[in-house]
Amino acid sequence: MSLPGEVLAARVKYPLTPQERELLLQIVPERLPRHIAIIMDGNGRWARQAGFRDRIRGHEAGIDSVRTAVRACGELHLRALTLYAFSVENWQRPKKEVDALMRLLIRFLNEEIPELNENNVRLVASGRTQDLSDECRRALDNTMAVTAGNTGLVLNLALSYGGRTEIIEAVRQIATEALAGTLDPVSLTEEAFSARLYHPELGDPDLLVRTSGEFRVSNFLLWQIAYTEIYVTPTLWPDFRRAHLYEAILDYEKRERRFGKVLEKPS
Ligand code: IPE
Ligand code: IPE
Ligand code: MG
Repeated sequence: MSLPGEVLAARVKYPLTPQERELLLQIVPERLPRHIAIIMDGNGRWARQAGFRDRIRGHEAGIDSVRTAVRACGELHLRALTLYAFSVENWQRPKKEVDALMRLLIRFLNEEIPELNENNVRLVASGRTQDLSDECRRALDNTMAVTAGNTGLVLNLALSYGGRTEIIEAVRQIATEALAGTLDPVSLTEEAFSARLYHPELGDPDLLVRTSGEFRVSNFLLWQIAYTEIYVTPTLWPDFRRAHLYEAILDYEKRERRFGKVLEKPS
């Protein structure tokens, strides 16, 4: 008897553990989410639990999980993966931690280029990237430029990102256009508003995953998650592997998305 995920298993490039294979085989390709967003949380707790005094060890360990998630989403031929890497509020953390996160980001951006290109992944960013250091901006701009021609998965890094900031920036732009007479406020639609957000072409996320068990959205994609399915796992981000992603997808595939409508057939 054939299993739904056989076509997906035939596509994988990175070796699967037997448990991952078993999960993957249950995934129904036709029901896959097109866009997954992840709040990568729990690095500090992971470091503490692993006996490190420095939270930064958790951020370092989280890089492997990022690589794993990008590989896995690419293999599944998803359209987009949005990763919450640094929020506007995260600037308020101790300077030492912010500096370490920025160093890790620069290293990731530089070191991942060959693999992103091998896997046909295009990098984009969402957020106030103008607030990043020049060195960070250069690395980001370079990786985006050298992956710009890739046609597979879009990896959208949310950097210096805030959902409210994103909305305010769109509102400012709309107000400016209205004052200039190029936009009629009365005929503003949801589509026209969305078009002024950071990356509307990626579409709203179908599935939002948050690691480390917190049931909150922490200012992430406030507009875009209006009808997104939410999945919270207690797994800390540095422990997040392909099996956890497949479990999240399987859970998502069982859900009935109603978008406010009634789906039952009329009796
Ligand atoms: C998530 O891990 C990474 C960032 C927010 C940059 P945390 O650093 O928030 O880890 P916890 O939540 O304190 O465990
Ligand atoms: C959300 O995690 C931000 C990122 C994952 C980048 P936080 O750890 O900053 O969020 P709170 O403080 O738990 O809400
Ligand atoms: Mg946290």
